[in-house]
Amino acid sequence: MYQQYFENKIAVVTGGGSGIGRALCLQLAHAGATVICTDINQERAEETTKSILGKGEAWFLDVTDEASITALIDKVVSKFGRLDLIFNNAGIAVSGELRDIKLNDWKRLMDINFYGVLYGSHAAYQVMLKQGSGHIINTASAAGLASGLALMAPYSVSKHAVVDYTHILRIEAKALGVKASVVCPGFVDTAIGDSAVEANAKPNWKNKAQNTLKRGLSADKAAIKILKGVEANKETIVFPRAIKIAMRIDRILGGVVKKMMQKELADFRANYRLPD
Ligand SMILES: NC(=O)c1ccc[n+]([C@@H]2O[C@H](COP(=O)([O-])OP(=O)(O)OC[C@H]3O[C@@H](n4cnc5c(N)ncnc54)[C@H](O)[C@@H]3O)[C@@H](O)[C@H]2O)c1
Repeated sequence: MYQQYFENKIAVVTGGGSGIGRALCLQLAHAGATVICTDINQERAEETTKSILGKGEAWFLDVTDEASITALIDKVVSKFGRLDLIFNNAGIAVSGELRDIKLNDWKRLMDINFYGVLYGSHAAYQVMLKQGSGHIINTASAAGLASGLALMAPYSVSKHAVVDYTHILRIEAKALGVKASVVCPGFVDTAIGDSAVEANAKPNWKNKAQNTLKRGLSADKAAIKILKGVEANKETIVFPRAIKIAMRIDRILGGVVKKMMQKELADFRANYRLPD
């Protein structure tokens, strides 16, 4: 178990007010870390830290604001003396066909899912380089590993960018004492569907997505898998096992996912897309 590994570590979590981020905060505190739980929704961040009194603080952070992230990291270092771990976890979802997704929705998603991760990583990296230690953990998704995920283009593109960015960071940072890992979960039962944008879709599309999430792993189990992967310093933390198997099959047989996507797209057009 990872219990001792996280003891007395100083950890920042973005998007800690809900879902996987909240579960990470709770698990980290349980394992003895001091947690700075950040979120754009301060109230929800405070709810998270209520149950970890003494082991955590709730701070407002909008990850799209680069200057605020840098200021937050500086504040953490001046208050706690160092930064051991940063979980760049905040993210949102947008779904629908490319022809329907508004460019503003693309931009907002990339600002949070990719640039938010980049800003958090970049600011933490500068501090960790000076320390000669630290671990940057970026949340992507299984959608960042599979190619051709129709109906989730902005999400999938942003997560591919996070995967590659983190793999490159890991290579460059290794000899400098800094670790980097990317997290690629399959479905996890969280509220991500509530805030998702569904472009030109009927309300039953949101229900379908939310029901799929409900069948996913619990956020607590996901957080435990993530922390075990961090302790083991895995490059890519993928779960559940079915995702690893599906990726392998797709690589060997080639194009299985793309064929499935043709079916999914036909179903979307027949049952969920609003008429032109
Ligand atoms: N739930 C899943 O099935 C799943 C699967 C794979 C990957 N992920 C990824 O896991 C991460 C966490 O998602 P979740 O499922 O826990 O979602 P969630 O909606 O439960 O939590 C996301 C949190 O991010 C916060 N947030 C949104 N915009 C922000 C911003 N600009 N600045 C700071 N915080 C912001 C929200 O307020 C919320 O508290 C995301 O990156 C998501 O893409 C989720």
